[in-house]
Amino acid sequence: MSRRKKIYEGKAKILYEGPEPGTIVQYFKDDATAFNAQKKDVIEGKGVLNNRLCEHFMLGLAAIGVPTHFIRRLNMREQLVREVEIIPLEVIVRNVAAGSLSQRLGIEEGTQLARPIVEFSYKNDALGDPLVAEEHIIAFNWASQQDLDDIIALALRVNDFMSGVMYGVGIRLIDFKIEIGRIYEGDFHRLVVADEISPDSCRLWDAKTNQKLDKDVFRRDLGSLTDAYSEVARRLGLMPESGKTHPGPKLVN
Ligand code: TMP
Repeated sequence: MSRRKKIYEGKAKILYEGPEPGTIVQYFKDDATAFNAQKKDVIEGKGVLNNRLCEHFMLGLAAIGVPTHFIRRLNMREQLVREVEIIPLEVIVRNVAAGSLSQRLGIEEGTQLARPIVEFSYKNDALGDPLVAEEHIIAFNWASQQDLDDIIALALRVNDFMSGVMYGVGIRLIDFKIEIGRIYEGDFHRLVVADEISPDSCRLWDAKTNQKLDKDVFRRDLGSLTDAYSEVARRLGLMPESGKTHPGPKLVN
């Protein structure tokens, strides 16, 4: 394991060369950062929870025909994924106003949006991941118009899936961020959901109390991040103490 070649280390994950060409091992760290790493901490157990939650969401997406980079979970902290060319965009889908949308436009957090909003940020830490328009994406050749249309369609499918999964366990999906990768097949490429889907990259509010069950707990010092992520995992039937291996979601009234 220690002799594996490290390809990239990000704020929350490390990528290693996979066992076969075209594969990558994605290792989930316990590190939490916010505000472009100005706020940092190590949250014991976060990586294990995110690895398991991410596996659950990626397998669910695959089961409804949404392509992802995910192959299989290897152990508590690692998953095997397809190697992709990451499109340098954060694709954000919002159902309810929160976070930077509320700040930018002065819309109260919690305001239901009339329709989902898809936004793009240019992935560039030095610039603070600035919001960009479709015109920038095309003009700077980060993605073609066809790619963009496909990215929006994928993002909205992920939104419908994740909203439904969360609604089933009494949680509202407020917003989330995904990243999209290209897999080349001859002269063509196809787009897949890559990176991760976890409470680090979503906003999740308890449907009854609006209690935050996502990384805002860390960003805003609202309590224990592992308690929040464990609660999401518990409701989805993913915690070992829930007894069964896969009881499935239970509707919370
Ligand atoms: P925002 O309201 O701060 O723009 O965040 C929108 C969504 O994107 C929210 O679910 C959190 C997620 N997100 C990330 O995954 N990574 C980031 O670096 C940021 C800023 C947000």
